[in-house]
Amino acid sequence: MLKRLLITGAAGGIGQEMRKRLSHMAEIIRVSDKAALGDARPNEEVMECNLADKDAVFKLVEGCDGILHLGGISIEDSWTPIKDGNIDGIVNLYEAARLLGQPRIIFASTNHTVGFYRQNERIDSKVYPQPDSLYGASKVFGEAIANVYHSKFGIETAIVRIGSCFPEPQTHRQLSLWLSYRDFVSLVECVFRAPRLGCPIIYGVSNNDSTWWDNRHVDYLGWAPKDNAETFRTQLDATLPRPGRDAPDAIYQGGVFTADGIHEE
Ligand SMILES: NC(=O)c1ccc[n+]([C@@H]2O[C@H](COP(=O)([O-])OP(=O)(O)OC[C@H]3O[C@@H](n4cnc5c(N)ncnc54)[C@H](O)[C@@H]3O)[C@@H](O)[C@H]2O)c1
Repeated sequence: MLKRLLITGAAGGIGQEMRKRLSHMAEIIRVSDKAALGDARPNEEVMECNLADKDAVFKLVEGCDGILHLGGISIEDSWTPIKDGNIDGIVNLYEAARLLGQPRIIFASTNHTVGFYRQNERIDSKVYPQPDSLYGASKVFGEAIANVYHSKFGIETAIVRIGSCFPEPQTHRQLSLWLSYRDFVSLVECVFRAPRLGCPIIYGVSNNDSTWWDNRHVDYLGWAPKDNAETFRTQLDATLPRPGRDAPDAIYQGGVFTADGIHEE
């Protein structure tokens, strides 16, 4: 069991779920976000923090032996918020980790780091990034920072390229990408329990029949996702038209992000 697990981005969609589901992982759960988090629950500490504020991030990381880093901009946006949350924010986090006890980290990366791979390609963790957005490129930077701090200082990170982590798949594309909350929790458990982690890229998906991703290189973690998006296919077919064959949502792994322009400031 960890002594203190920091969850950044705890006010967000995934963060709220992890806050509810991970209290067994540590003696103290330190939840953080720049948005309001409400009162501390049993075995919690609440610390509001903007990831762009280096001094605040150092206070945040102090005393933590594990970090689930969900905080940051999670969709395409203009450059300044992406820079604050995903560029300055990740450097601040790893600098604090380097100097304050070298906690093990889970970094929430994204399918949008490889968004321009086609849906008819099966890819593994060795492929060259093909980001589909400033957002996706910022997460490639985050992956690179995790690697630098592993190679130089031995800080271990699970880089999780999350597919679509929602209660249910919401589009046909997400039938390939869906990660259930339950499977994310079991991944977090495996990562923090593993005797040796290293710095692997892990595709964050459930056991979906139509996956595009190969995770065999992380069999050593013993992660066995149980849910399968296929159980939602009939329901989706009945409620949502399939995207046309030429639609980005049917061609590229990153879907509509590949067709979006630059969000000017
Ligand atoms: N939900 C998904 O399907 C999905 C898919 C791929 C990757 N991810 C990644 O997982 C993480 C969580 O996703 P989510 O869907 O819960 O996103 P979200 O947008 O709901 O939550 C992100 C949280 O980060 C906080 N945040 C943003 N900028 C910040 C800053 N500068 N300082 C402090 N906090 C800041 C926001 O206030 C928000 O509460 C994100 O990093 C996202 O990129 C999510």
